[in-house]
Amino acid sequence: MTDFLNEYSMHTATCGELRKEDIDREVVLTGWVWHNRDHGGLIFVDLRDRAGYTQVVVDPDCVTEDEFHTAEHLGREYVLEVRGRVRARGEESVNPSMLTGEVEVLASGLKVLNTSVTPPFSIEDGIETDEITRMKWRYMDLRRPEMYKSLLLRHTFTQAMRSALNKRGFLEVETPILANSTPEGARDYIVPSRPNPGKFYALPQSPQQFKQMLMCAGVERYYQIARCFRDEDLRADRQPEFTQVDIEMSYVRRDDVLQMMEDVMAEVLEAVGVEHEFPLQRMPWKEAMDRFGCDRPDVRFDMELVDLTEIVRGCGFGVFSKAVEAGNIVKAINAKGAGDWSRGDIEKLAEVAAANGAKGMAWIAYTADGKEKSPIIKFLGEEVHAAIKEAMGVEPGDLLLFAADTFAVANAVLAALRLHMADLLGIERKGHALLWVVDFPMFSYDPDEKKYAAEHHPFTMIPEEDVAKIESAPLEVGSYSYDLVMDGFEAGGGTIRIHNAELQKRVLRQVGVSEEDMDVKFGHLLRALELGAPPHGGIALGLDRLCMLLAGKESIRDVIAFPKTSSAADPMTGAPNAVTGRQLKEVNLRLL
Ligand code: AMO
Ligand code: AMP
Repeated sequence: MTDFLNEYSMHTATCGELRKEDIDREVVLTGWVWHNRDHGGLIFVDLRDRAGYTQVVVDPDCVTEDEFHTAEHLGREYVLEVRGRVRARGEESVNPSMLTGEVEVLASGLKVLNTSVTPPFSIEDGIETDEITRMKWRYMDLRRPEMYKSLLLRHTFTQAMRSALNKRGFLEVETPILANSTPEGARDYIVPSRPNPGKFYALPQSPQQFKQMLMCAGVERYYQIARCFRDEDLRADRQPEFTQVDIEMSYVRRDDVLQMMEDVMAEVLEAVGVEHEFPLQRMPWKEAMDRFGCDRPDVRFDMELVDLTEIVRGCGFGVFSKAVEAGNIVKAINAKGAGDWSRGDIEKLAEVAAANGAKGMAWIAYTADGKEKSPIIKFLGEEVHAAIKEAMGVEPGDLLLFAADTFAVANAVLAALRLHMADLLGIERKGHALLWVVDFPMFSYDPDEKKYAAEHHPFTMIPEEDVAKIESAPLEVGSYSYDLVMDGFEAGGGTIRIHNAELQKRVLRQVGVSEEDMDVKFGHLLRALELGAPPHGGIALGLDRLCMLLAGKESIRDVIAFPKTSSAADPMTGAPNAVTGRQLKEVNLRLL
């Protein structure tokens, strides 16, 4: 499989390819000294390249005195060229966990191609090194076999994606990086323009408007492995620059896009050796919120949310009954296996609830030996308590956690607690679960800013029957939108687009775009829509997130060659850097 690496190369075999069949082959290997040890006058070197590693034996009888001396003084990560013959290992030294474990190379010559100072950390998989050190010495970190495997998986994924799209008539088109702002909900990275003093480009948060222009241009099917830039608070699944598989199609309905994406994903998953069943489940947004409390449910385990609003309406516990009176909801989850936790451990969960906006976290614990513990049972009344137990399917050993709040907060709190409890209880989440979440509402309301925002983005098509409600009842307006969810992460999202200029203006107005901005920011789009825009729609997949999940990693940093820290810096190159006064002057800027 790696034979092609021997073409155009100093070596005749990689460190990963030698097997029993190669015994007696004369080879030249190159690579890094991984481990070396002196065994009774023989020196054993594990030589490593990207394909694997091979044991090299240096016997003083088979090499010159100088070469043996060199072998005795090799340091870790020295770069070596070894000539020698492949031979079988003695039975007792066969290593079945190693690809090349049945053979070794008896050196007949060796040359140090480069020395190395002591590496900042050892090049081993599973090392405990802090993230900043790994990033500062990223090229060393990437020498670890596990990291190379992640890069390889990403490569395979991307190539399979290209191939699946190419054969369906998609054209790969590059769109500008120096662009103007497009609303995807984050802050822009801005770049001053030297020839246009006082003016700035925005790096694209996504190629959204360009891909719509390409549909107006008649490309019909477009894709791009597109770098996107978003200045937002970073988390394990977010980077300031990340990659989308960005896709757009003309003359499609929602189900055409979903079907295309499923067919493409089926091919891509096969290419990376992951099994998944198709067709994928399509879960309406409302159902996802009701059952899992979030729009990106991890459906690999149950512990679903149960709505108790009607059961607790008018009950004796003021927190619940007042919430219901105020038009809010009361929901709960049943964490099976936590019923015997101590009061202290349970109360600690309230911190997770509070971090998600909860004003408190009521609970009832049912111990394995049939006792009940709770700060609230006494207020509930027997009848209500019995109804809650029935609704929650309570058995001994269960712990109920409650949230009484607005639809948004109660769901967010329990969604977070559900995941937290699954972690604490060690609930197994096997394999991968992909599904569609569909039918998002078009708008959401931000009570702090007192304005409406588009749930996906303002270019999203609205079902005919809801168009009349855009201004009068915006929160009742639906949309042709969909997210691809994988293992509890939003792995992709898209919509059918508005292709009518008047409708587009109404939506932009509703999300607070002024008449002036309408022209400055969206004039090009509106004009394109007026000039015979075809019906179109598309999707963008988060390439980093998908690769993270498929590689079984916890952070997208592990599938990005050169990622940034949580403060958006690169410890290796030192970016971002200060610039000189002259550079600032050239672009007409002065620092405050
Ligand atoms: P959206 O904003 O949902 O849609 O982005 C699409 C996908 O990109 C990934 N993603 C990220 N990955 C890593 N770091 C980030 N900071 C980050 N932000 C987003 C997610 C997400 O699902 N133009 C629309 C797509 C469309 O309508 O066609 C868009 O950008 O996996
Ligand atoms: P209090 O009446 O504030 O002392 O609360 C009584 C119990 O209800 C405590 O266990 C609180 O943590 C819990 N509680 C308070 N507010 C809420 C809420 N909004 N949702 C769920 N539980 C709550």
